[in-house]
Amino acid sequence: TQTFTVVLKEIWTSLIMWFFYALIPCLLTGAVAILPAPQNLSVHSTNMKHLLIWSPVIIPGETVYYSVEYQGEYESLYTSHVWIPSSWCSLMEEPECDVTDDITATVPYNLRVRATLGSQSSAWSTLTQPFNRNSTILTPPGMELTKDGFHLVIELEDLGPQFEFLVAYWKREAGAKEHVKTVSSGGIPLHLVTMEPGAAYCVKAQTFVKAIGRHSAFSQAECVEVQGEVLPLALALFAFVGFMLILVAVPLSIWKTGQLLRYSCCPAVVLPDTLKVTNSPQKLISCRKEEVDACAMTAVLSSEELFRTWIW
Ligand SMILES: *[C@@H]1O[C@H](CO)[C@@H](O)[C@H](O)[C@H]1NC(C)=O
Ligand SMILES: *[C@@H]1O[C@H](CO)[C@@H](O)[C@H](O)[C@H]1NC(C)=O
Repeated sequence: TQTFTVVLKEIWTSLIMWFFYALIPCLLTGAVAILPAPQNLSVHSTNMKHLLIWSPVIIPGETVYYSVEYQGEYESLYTSHVWIPSSWCSLMEEPECDVTDDITATVPYNLRVRATLGSQSSAWSTLTQPFNRNSTILTPPGMELTKDGFHLVIELEDLGPQFEFLVAYWKREAGAKEHVKTVSSGGIPLHLVTMEPGAAYCVKAQTFVKAIGRHSAFSQAECVEVQGEVLPLALALFAFVGFMLILVAVPLSIWKTGQLLRYSCCPAVVLPDTLKVTNSPQKLISCRKEEVDACAMTAVLSSEELFRTWIW
């Protein structure tokens, strides 16, 4: 009976073991089959920004999450089973992924995405054609021209460290020579040229990406005129300031001068009654003389005071 019990026990154990080993993979594959894989993968790449997008997997009433992985040229050639999770796209809700930071070389990249719902995951869906960043669409750069006096200042759109710019500019006249300047980064105002008065200047720009050896088309030319605008403005300003000064200074000085003259020259001398002899012409002359002396005295004495009064 003891041998029988042992045999029974062993059979029971192996039954349980079989159940687990057979059923668990079966359950797992069943789960994978339920959730469809994302479809229609494509990369939209403009100005070295790469966006992987796909058609969303829609399960009513549920939120599906997506994860993205990639393989560079080395992995796809030598270790094809190795896939690297994308830096920013693990279990995300939107059916798109910015893979700019993953694509670091100008070589073909494989990209794949799968959907996840709860504990279920879909199969991986892979890009039909590997993506090479040299196929990015390069657009002409945005630019802003400003005048600072006679200086023409340009500011180009900031597109990131991989972008350089070629700026072409010329004076708008028959047979003018075109000049080209290389600008190493956008987002910074740069002095382009000192303009001649009365002339118009035109500017256009294109981007250049060294990493892929390609450049964009030129932007539309933009022209700036400096025609007699700065000088008359400065003159008008000067004239206005001068006019204001005169307007304030002239009445003030007239008033001051009037005051000074009143106090320093021939002040009204009130003669004591005893000195007022009106009948005698002799006395009158003497009085007049005295009056003139007093007047002169006052003028001499107060010349310093006069100056002080003027300052105040
Ligand atoms: C894939 O794209 C095509 C057309 O662009 C569309 O008809 C189809 O429905 C898309 N597939 C999915 C799964 O959305
Ligand atoms: C991108 O590079 C590959 C080889 O690395 C080349 O075959 C392809 O023509 C290039 N594409 C563009 C648009 O330059």
